[in-house]
Parts: sequence; C-alpha cells; structure tokens
Amino acid sequence: DAPSTARGSEWQAKHGGAAFMTDRPITTTDAGIPAPSDEHSQSVGPNGPLLLQDHYLIQKLAHFNRERVPERVVHAKGGGAYGVLEITEDVSQFTKAKLFQKGARTESLVRFSSVAGELGSADAGRDPRGFAIKFYTEDGNYDLVGNNTPIFFIRDPQKFPDFIHSQKRRPDTHLRDHNMQWDFWTLSPESAHQVTLLMTDRGTPASWRHMNGYGSHTFLWYNAAGDKFWVKYHFKTDQGIKNLTADEADRQPPDVHLKDLYEAIERGDYPSWTVQVQIMPFEEAADYRFNPFDLTKVWPHADYPPITIGKWTLTRNPENYFAEIEQAAFEPANFVPGIGPSPDKMLQGRLFSYPDAHRYRIGANYLQLPVNRPKAEVHSYNFDGPMTYRNPEGPVYAPNSFGGPAADPELWKGESYEVAGEIVRSAYTLHREDDDYVQPRALWEKVLSDVDRDHLVSNIVGHASAPEVTADMKKRVVEYWRNVHKDLGDRVAAGLGVNGS
Ligand code: NDP
Ligand code: HEM
Repeated sequence: DAPSTARGSEWQAKHGGAAFMTDRPITTTDAGIPAPSDEHSQSVGPNGPLLLQDHYLIQKLAHFNRERVPERVVHAKGGGAYGVLEITEDVSQFTKAKLFQKGARTESLVRFSSVAGELGSADAGRDPRGFAIKFYTEDGNYDLVGNNTPIFFIRDPQKFPDFIHSQKRRPDTHLRDHNMQWDFWTLSPESAHQVTLLMTDRGTPASWRHMNGYGSHTFLWYNAAGDKFWVKYHFKTDQGIKNLTADEADRQPPDVHLKDLYEAIERGDYPSWTVQVQIMPFEEAADYRFNPFDLTKVWPHADYPPITIGKWTLTRNPENYFAEIEQAAFEPANFVPGIGPSPDKMLQGRLFSYPDAHRYRIGANYLQLPVNRPKAEVHSYNFDGPMTYRNPEGPVYAPNSFGGPAADPELWKGESYEVAGEIVRSAYTLHREDDDYVQPRALWEKVLSDVDRDHLVSNIVGHASAPEVTADMKKRVVEYWRNVHKDLGDRVAAGLGVNGS
C-alpha cells in the first residue's frame, strides 16, 4: 500500500504518527532491490572518495537528470483535470459520432494553458488560453484542441513558426519584444480580429473556469446516411465570463489559474460548460458570405445560431501532474467516425504538427501511456519502438490470412467529398464579404460596451508603449487600428502620442 503517486501526503496522513514511523516500507531501487541508505553514498572511509559500484547513487543521480521531457514548444504552462461530457439533445441527424448521441456520457481530460510563456511562466499574462480536450470514446480518442477564442491570428500554417517566433523570446537577448510582435501583426492584417480579442479583457481571463472554449476551426460532421454538415463548437462557461483588468492581471501570483482549478475541484465545486454547436449544411459553404474555413473569422450567430447539445463538467484532479498532464498528448488529427477535418488550411497543418511534436517530446509510443491510451481496444499493426508496452496480437502485417484485424472502409464513407483544382500557393479566394477588418469592426461597433472599449484602448496603448517599440512602429500600430475602426485608431493615436489621421 505504498504511495505510488503524488498522493503521498494523503498516504502519510492515513499512516501518520508512530505507526507511520514503524510500519514504513523499505526504500528500494527502481528495480525493487532494498536500498542500503537514504542519505549516505558509499565511500572509502567516512571522509574518502565515492565508489562507482554505488549503483544506487548512480541510479538516483542519473534518473534525476532525466526527470524532464522537453517543454511544449508552445502552450508550455498549463494544468488539467478529468471530466465527463453528457449529451442531452438528439443531433443524430447531423453526426453519427457515438459520443454525440443523446444520453451518451464520455470520460474526458482537459488541459488549459497559456501560449507564449515557458513551463514556469505566470498564468495571468495577456495571451490566448489553450482549451484542449481528449474524449475517451468507445470508438477511440477524439481530441478537440481549441482555445478560449473562436478565431486565430493567421490563416495559413506556413506562417505559424514565424508568428510564434515573433511572440516568444528573441534568440539574441532572450527577451520578449513588443516591437517584434507589432511588426508581425501589422504586416499580417489577417491578425486584426484575434489581436482585437486579445487586447480586450478576454485576453486576461480571471481563471480557466471563467472562460469559454471554442473548437475554433470548422469541422466536418456526417450522419449514418452519409449526409454532411460543417460544424463549429462552443463551450460556454456556466461560471460566467470573468476577466481581469490589465492591472489586476499584473498583480496575480504566478500559478493562480493552476491553483484555482485544483482547489475548486478538490472542494467539490465542479466547473461546467454548456456545449453548443453551429451547424452549416454542407452545400452552403461555397456561397457563404465569409469563407467558412477561414480561421480568422467567426460565423455570426444570426447566420448560424448556436444549438445547445449537452454539458461538460470537470470532476477529478490528476494524481500525478507529470504523468497525466505534462505527458498528455492532444492531436487535432484524432477524429472518430462521424467527424472529420474541413479544408481549413490551419487545421490541415495541425493534423501533421501535433503527433510529430509528441514523437519528439514524449516518444514514439506516447499513445501507450495511461493518460493517452484510448479506452477503446487497440488493434494496430504498429509495434515495437522505445518503451513498448502493448503486445502485438497475432499477425503483424496486412493483408494476412491468419485472422488479424481488418479495416472497415464503410466507417469513414461520409467523410469523402469532391475537390478539384490547380495546385497553387495563394490566399483563399474571397467570398462576398471577406475582409480582414469587417469582423473586428463588428466587435468594436456592436458587441463591446463602453468600458470594454476603454479597456481595449488602454490595453493596446499599454502594450505598444513598451520602451522597445519604435516611433515608426507606433505609427503602423495606429494605422492597423484605424483599419479596424477610425475611432479606435484615433484613440490609440492619442494614447501613444502619434499625430495625424
Ligand atoms: P452577436 O451579437 O450575435 O454575438 C456576439 C458574441 O460576441 C456574443 O455572443 C459573445 O460570444 C461574444 N462577446 C460578447 N461580449 C464580448 C466581449 N466583451 N468580447 C469578446 N466577445 C464578446 O454577433 P455576431 O455573431 O455577429 O458576432 C459579432 C462579433 O462578435 C464577431 O465579429 C466577433 O468579433 C465576436 N464574437 C462572435 C462569436 C461568434 O461565434 N459568432 C464568438 C465570440 C465573439 P460568446 O458567447 O461566444 O462569448
Ligand atoms: C500546442 C502547433 C495552431 C491550440 C501546440 C504544439 C504544437 C502546436 C507543436 C505543442 C504540442 C505538444 O508538444 O504537445 C500548432 C500549429 C498551428 C497551431 C503548427 C497552426 C498551423 C493552433 C490553434 C489552436 C491551437 C489554431 C487553437 C484553436 C493549441 C493548444 C495546445 C497547442 C490548446 C496545447 C495542447 C496541450 O494542452 O497539450 N500547437 N498549433 N494551436 N496548440 Fe497549437
């Protein structure tokens, strides 16, 4: 009954006092051999040099050196919990995915994160928040790797490494650099919508419990008859949206969101989200006023009203942060029958990127770790490799004549649709109202309150007033915001002391 996890303190409390001191197990090496001492290395005489034969000391030092895996290249700082998705409405006309059938309950894991900071960075800084969910369905893992924003900064994965380079530390000074950030944003007008959201107080949520989650991309749903629909996911916080002002965010302790989530779940105050979808009939995509696959755009609610389909509740903390959260591996490519990718170029890039990252960061067999292992049975022809745990069963190749597993092409039939065209490198063809500024302008004009607008202006001005931001860059910043809305640009100009209009 020895503590096998970080719950050691609970174990200690249970076995406390005198019994704890007498009934304790003998320390062992990782090979289970009783250890000779918890404190003293083997030396030649009490003051002499140490011996190479002290395999226990060597194991301890060597294992310690290997306690880390590389941190995630983005979204390094985060925390997570387990929960359950319950579907309350019938959406079988849109998807045959088993986890979305009325009455279904699916165990899940979430990892919330910030994007640009390192593993130990502060939780409350201005940044989008990751909202990555793994659903352990009976058809295998379905991962929805979203953010707390319905949109993103760019629309082509080609720009992702450059975008991230501009947001993280410089290679020369190892400092973050707001001039570099505004340089990238002002040269990438498609960023305006997401930067507007980021600069509102939604860029500094009060906690992970008080923010919405969005699948962000458009995905494909198909029903049992093979009818197709485009879908967007919205997880609306039942705790209510709560944000921090820039000053409040600056004053938060580093691990404020990690602690908040852990403590809420420990005290039984289980956070929940109402799950909604927007559904677009397959054929409407071609002529929709916005490109429905452009990640810098939302589908206005008036066009496609969100439909409530269920509730998602977090009920259990992980027991071992490293094993279950640091080694959690989310992949936008994990779809289950009834769900597939859309042609969103960002999504297409991400389908490759994540499993590649996991093979580097965790290892080729990351899917065999308990947190990533599907609850569904695995019958795969992949085997061996570092840290193999799963046994190959029967024949190890396909086709074979010995009864090995056989794929079922029927299952993903609804995913197929016709595409034709010339191979090009170009931006999306424009739909009627496509424009980089029209949606952030709607946010400014229609959605934000006066207070929200005041904070948006002061947050932008604060950010672009960093000492490294040059006078020329400030002019570009003003132009960028004037393109969103003249009033916004003028107010930013006044705040930054930039003349002219
Ligand atoms: P609606 O008026 O129907 O919806 C506006 C939505 O904006 C709300 O439902 C809410 O979405 C979100 N919102 C409310 N307050 C804020 C805030 N202070 N900061 C950021 N978002 C807020 O209009 P449309 O659907 O036509 O969208 C208008 C604009 O609203 C869009 O251009 C976009 O910038 C923004 N928006 C739209 C969303 C969508 O999916 N249509 C989602 C989020 C923002 P929620 O309940 O998801 O928080
Ligand atoms: C993490 C790549 C866009 C949400 C990551 C990681 C990579 C990556 C390599 C680290 C994975 C790991 O080591 O575990 C990319 C690329 C993108 C992109 C190439 C664009 C082409 C996005 C978008 C969203 C998003 C648009 C949200 C809508 C996340 C989240 C995580 C993450 C939530 C953290 C997952 C976790 O908690 O483990 N991304 N990303 N990313 N990304 Fe992206």
